[in-house]
Amino acid sequence: MKKTVLAFSRITPAMAERLQHDFHVIVPNPKLGDIAAQFNEALPEAHGLIGVGRKLGRAQLEGAGKLEVVSSVSVGYDNYDLDYFNERGIALTNTPDVLTESTADLGFALIMGCARRTAELDAWTKAGHWQATVGPAQFGCDVHGKKLGIVGLGNIGAAIARRGRLGFNMQVLYTGNSRKAALEHELGAQFRSLDELLAEADFVCLVVPLSDATRKLIGARELKLMKPSAFLVNIARGPVVDEVALVEALQEGTIRGAGLDVYEKEPLADSPLFKLPNALTLPHIGSATAETREAMANRAIDNLRSALLGERPQDLVNPQVWKG
Ligand code: DGY
Repeated sequence: MKKTVLAFSRITPAMAERLQHDFHVIVPNPKLGDIAAQFNEALPEAHGLIGVGRKLGRAQLEGAGKLEVVSSVSVGYDNYDLDYFNERGIALTNTPDVLTESTADLGFALIMGCARRTAELDAWTKAGHWQATVGPAQFGCDVHGKKLGIVGLGNIGAAIARRGRLGFNMQVLYTGNSRKAALEHELGAQFRSLDELLAEADFVCLVVPLSDATRKLIGARELKLMKPSAFLVNIARGPVVDEVALVEALQEGTIRGAGLDVYEKEPLADSPLFKLPNALTLPHIGSATAETREAMANRAIDNLRSALLGERPQDLVNPQVWKG
C-alpha cells in the first residue's frame, strides 16, 4: 500500500503529480473549507509532510503517529522544533544549494536598491514629481568600491561577497563563527569581530541562520555602532534584528537605510516601516524565482521520496535519527 504524504502549505499541481507516482497525496484545499481542519484531520495517517512556512513541533504534531519525515521546501529550518523531531525519530530535510545564487541576487538587489533608492524614486517618478533634472534630494550613493560587511559567510554570504568583490570592486569584510581561509584567499575577504564590522562597513548584510545565538543579534547598541551613512540589509530571518530598534534607527538617522526581505512577523502588515522612505521592504522573496522555486520543489520531493522509500535523503538535517 502507498504511504501518505500531506502538504502543509500550497504545493503546485506539478509537485502533487510527481508525488502521486509513489504516494497517496493529500493537499488541503481552501475551496473545501478550513485548511487547518483538513490538515489536522489528515495528519494521523501521514507518513510524510511537505511544505514551507509553518511552525511544526510538539503542539502541531502530537497526533501524527505515523510520521517519518518532514520535507521543508526551504534552506532555513528555524520553523521546526528539532529537539522534538529527534525525540520522535522524525527525519527533517531541507533544500540547500539550489537557492544560493538567486538569494544572493536578491541580497544584491537590496544593496543596490537602498543605495540608489530605486523603489522610492520609482514611486516619485510615477507620482509626477519629475519636472526638472534631479538634484541632491534625489541622489543616492555609490556601491562600487565600498566596504561590504557580511555577517555569516556561508554559501549565500559567499555568493554575495563574490558579487561585491568581482562585480563591484568592493572590499569584503566578514564575521562569523569561523575563519574562511579559502574565501580570504579568493576574495581578499577580511575577518572582523561583529562590532568592528558594524563600525567599518558601508553595507552590512545579514546572512546568518536564526538560532538562540543570532536572535536579536542586531539591536539598538549594534545599530549605533554603524556609520550614519551605512545601510543594513537583512535576507536572513526577521528575528535576527530587533525591529523596534531598527525603526527607531531609521527614523533618527542613526543609519542611512535598510533593505529588508524578512521580518519579525510575516506577512508584514501595518508596520511603521511602511512610512519610512529609507526602508526598502520586500515580501520574503529571496528564493522566489520560477526556476529556483521549481528546483527547490524537486529537491524537496527527492528528499521526501528517498526517506519514505528507505534511502537516506540527500539533505538530512538531523542524521542522528536515520536508521536506514
Ligand atoms: C529559505 O529557503 O529558507 C527561504 O528563506 C524561504 O523560507
